[in-house]
Amino acid sequence: MESLRQYVRDIPDFPKPGILFRDITPMLANPEALTAAVDAMAAPFIDAGVEVIAAAEARGFIFAAPLAMKLNAGFVPIRKPGKLPFDMHSFAYELEYGTDELQVHVDGVKKGQRVLLVDDLLATGGTMEACCRLLEKCDAEIVGCSFLIHLEVLGGAARLSPYQVQSVLTYGQDDEEAE
Ligand code: PRP
Ligand code: MG
Repeated sequence: MESLRQYVRDIPDFPKPGILFRDITPMLANPEALTAAVDAMAAPFIDAGVEVIAAAEARGFIFAAPLAMKLNAGFVPIRKPGKLPFDMHSFAYELEYGTDELQVHVDGVKKGQRVLLVDDLLATGGTMEACCRLLEKCDAEIVGCSFLIHLEVLGGAARLSPYQVQSVLTYGQDDEEAE
């Protein structure tokens, strides 16, 4: 699976100076790499009885729908404010500067349904932690969190405890600071 790493393009100083951005668009553009990425994100959860895939816009959606189809599960979107039309749960969370908020429909996930959360990237964990809190409000059974990329040095995995965290590609201490 390490061969997938060649499809991740490093962009220095984006979106701001000092940040090394891991650009996955070359991976998305390659049919074999995209399929391999989706397969690898699904693999740890093939026999986990996943009923629903939930993911936050925008990049999480890219992987969520194909994972849902692969795991024979439904897809439930987690969105930024102002996008969902029905009754919803909301969770506000801290960013480096200011706050952000994510929302999910109250009937998106039924009580006790087995949900796998998906995103392209685990950095500080703020986004996925918010997703977990939203699914807990739905009384969902969270099976785990599946990422394409995990930036280990930012410590996000600890914020997702006690849930199982899986990633296909890990960037660690030896890699430059990234986002
Ligand atoms: C990126 C990425 C993850 C999140 C990871 O999303 O897609 O969702 O950051 O960072 P964290 O672990 O520190 O929360 P972003 O908010 O940039 O928006 P996008 O998916 O709409 O591009
Ligand atoms: Mg995102």
